[in-house]
Amino acid sequence: MDIEGLKKQSTSDLAKIKNLADLEQYRIKYLGRKGEITTVLRSLKDLPAVKRKKIGMETNELKKDIGLKLFKLKNQLIEEETKKKERKIDVTAPGIKISRGHLHPMTLIARKIEDIFQSMGFKIVEGPDIETEYYNFDALNIPKDHPARDAWSTFWLKTKPEKLLLRAHTSPMQIRFMEKNNPPLRIIVPGRCFRYEATDASHSHTFYQLEGLMVDREISVANFKAVIEEFLKKMFGNDVETRMRPSYYPFVEPGFDIEMKFPSGEWLEIMGAGMVHPNVFKAVGYVPGNWQGFAFGVGIDRIAMLKYKINDIRLLYSNDLHFLNQF
Ligand code: DAH
Repeated sequence: MDIEGLKKQSTSDLAKIKNLADLEQYRIKYLGRKGEITTVLRSLKDLPAVKRKKIGMETNELKKDIGLKLFKLKNQLIEEETKKKERKIDVTAPGIKISRGHLHPMTLIARKIEDIFQSMGFKIVEGPDIETEYYNFDALNIPKDHPARDAWSTFWLKTKPEKLLLRAHTSPMQIRFMEKNNPPLRIIVPGRCFRYEATDASHSHTFYQLEGLMVDREISVANFKAVIEEFLKKMFGNDVETRMRPSYYPFVEPGFDIEMKFPSGEWLEIMGAGMVHPNVFKAVGYVPGNWQGFAFGVGIDRIAMLKYKINDIRLLYSNDLHFLNQF
């Protein structure tokens, strides 16, 4: 094509550009690697010297001209498109939902349990995750080398100069609290516990317990039963059926397990409990004959699983949002 023809063609094509996509097509058509102008410039070398100079100059002129026009047009189009977007505010469009954080199911359940016990006059106290052998075992009437220790598969941290461990239950706080306070007392101790155990649908090496302790002159099993039934009714509704079965824990005498009946007819153990053992009172400096009390330890995870019908404890610790967003 001759230069005049190219000029006319490019000018009329330019007038047809409506948007940035058209503009890019145009740029490729004329200035691209295989574009019209580029092709002419490439073929210059085959022309006789006289023609080469003239056509060369004219083509370069045209190339510059097109480049400049494209630059201006591009800026203009960008401006127009931005303005169009700005004008397009649909006031009837639904707002963008801001996703807010919310409480973890374990926190919800722990708070609910705490509320219930607080309404019965129990005070909340907390204790350390790292315990000594004395508080986790000895003071709770679980002597060294006693087979009962096997029930608490323990994460030992270090053994010298003092034996330290990750607490295997919240019971050590019974000791810590009674050492510093005199009866009458009513406390609950929510907290994280650790066991050296393989993980499966119903076991986790890290879990939450809630310890309870009530001590006064004449506390009996009847008081315990009343408190726990009240707790379970408030937690699971008035129809809840519970039963106590004899059990053994070194720090109580007698000891029991509390079980709850499910709609399916199955009984499930939800807590260990008992009347505080005289040796525990001795360990904290109380005169055993003067005081009586009950203690219990309930798995917060267990309660959460029952309440929300969760069949795998690992869900509570996996931070999976598909799961967590349901609460
Ligand atoms: N600490 C026990 C455990 O982790 C649970 C328990 C049982 C706590 C009986 C108590 C109790 O206070 O009286 O298995």
